[in-house]
Amino acid sequence: MSTQFHVCITLGTRPEAIKLAPIIHLFRNNPKFQTSVILTGQHREMVEQVMQLFELKADYDLDIMLPKQTLTQITCSSLIGLEKLYKEIQPNIVLVQGDTTTAFAAALAAFYQQIPVGHVEAGLRTDNLFNPFPEEANRRLVSQIAQLHFAPTQASARNLQVSGVKKGIHNTGNTVIDALLYVSGRSPKCEIKGLDWAAHRVILATVHRRENWGEPLAQIIQAWLQILADFSDVALVLPLHLNPVVREPLIEKLGNHPRIFLVEPLDYEQLVGAMQRCYLIMSDSGGLQEEAPSLGKPVLVLRSTTERPEAVDAGTSKLVGTETNDIVAAASKLLSDRNAYDQMANIANPFGDGKSSQRILDIVSSFLS
Ligand code: UD1
Repeated sequence: MSTQFHVCITLGTRPEAIKLAPIIHLFRNNPKFQTSVILTGQHREMVEQVMQLFELKADYDLDIMLPKQTLTQITCSSLIGLEKLYKEIQPNIVLVQGDTTTAFAAALAAFYQQIPVGHVEAGLRTDNLFNPFPEEANRRLVSQIAQLHFAPTQASARNLQVSGVKKGIHNTGNTVIDALLYVSGRSPKCEIKGLDWAAHRVILATVHRRENWGEPLAQIIQAWLQILADFSDVALVLPLHLNPVVREPLIEKLGNHPRIFLVEPLDYEQLVGAMQRCYLIMSDSGGLQEEAPSLGKPVLVLRSTTERPEAVDAGTSKLVGTETNDIVAAASKLLSDRNAYDQMANIANPFGDGKSSQRILDIVSSFLS
């Protein structure tokens, strides 16, 4: 029998679970690999939902989550727990995804034991170290210690070269499209108590980023109230992130509006259902910018920078920042000008074709053989 390689896939937050789920499936079903999935536990409920949807079970859970945890706590607890586990498992390679503190700590823990690291969704950059914070630093640090870099687009592959990465760059597309196609094929529903989707044009909104906490969030909230006042057929669906720092001001300022639906975090299947049914998306999330073009929905990005210029260049996203007037102006245009809306809605997805996970498995396989 040929050698079996041990692949360890480490993740901590919801977006990592979504983007790694299709990869975990493929590795688990391939006899050439033994696959261990480790959760750091940076997130608990939000990861559990995704694992259930994709019918996945983790092999280990470090269970590090604390209420209002600091970045230092996440990093230190992950490093200590992963050191022990990697020593026990002795994987041939560790795969991490994206730019969270889990991804950074998981790559560093592997590097300390000289285990090769494969970085899924490598090469995203804003070139502003503090925006997004701390993600821009996390992904740069992972690029310096990984040996395989799975870039989702040509532009991210180029960013890696500019960062001094000489070897191991592969343009694979983004696995989020693999995950999206799996879920949208299940005809996802999204029922929200009190909301008649057919009777409104629905804005699906999310906001959670650290650099938007405080004044930017206050400006965004003001913009939503203004848009609802100006357009009586518009409703806002806002799934709340579990982080209390963003959750509390949203409930306080938006909790009593008849056309605002604050809901608990939607599981991924419901979120895809909501994306299919909504009119427009307003968000500071990265994943939504990648998914929306496949579903024909424009995205107004509530940030001043993006590491996903492909969506803006293709015309499917617009970077509108966090100032009330700018947000209201951009949304009003899409709500009142059908041509402007259609120009953003009907665009091919620049992020992938749904076959990224298979490419990644093939590259890992030839790297280890
Ligand atoms: C983290 C990532 C961010 C990613 C986001 C996706 C870092 C630094 N940030 O930000 O890159 O875009 O996840 O969601 O890695 N909580 C729960 N249950 C959960 C999840 C969160 O109660 O399932 C609460 C906890 O109080 C926790 C807080 O949310 O302390 C913040 O979680 P944390 O992972 O520190 O930051 P996020 O804002 O979620």
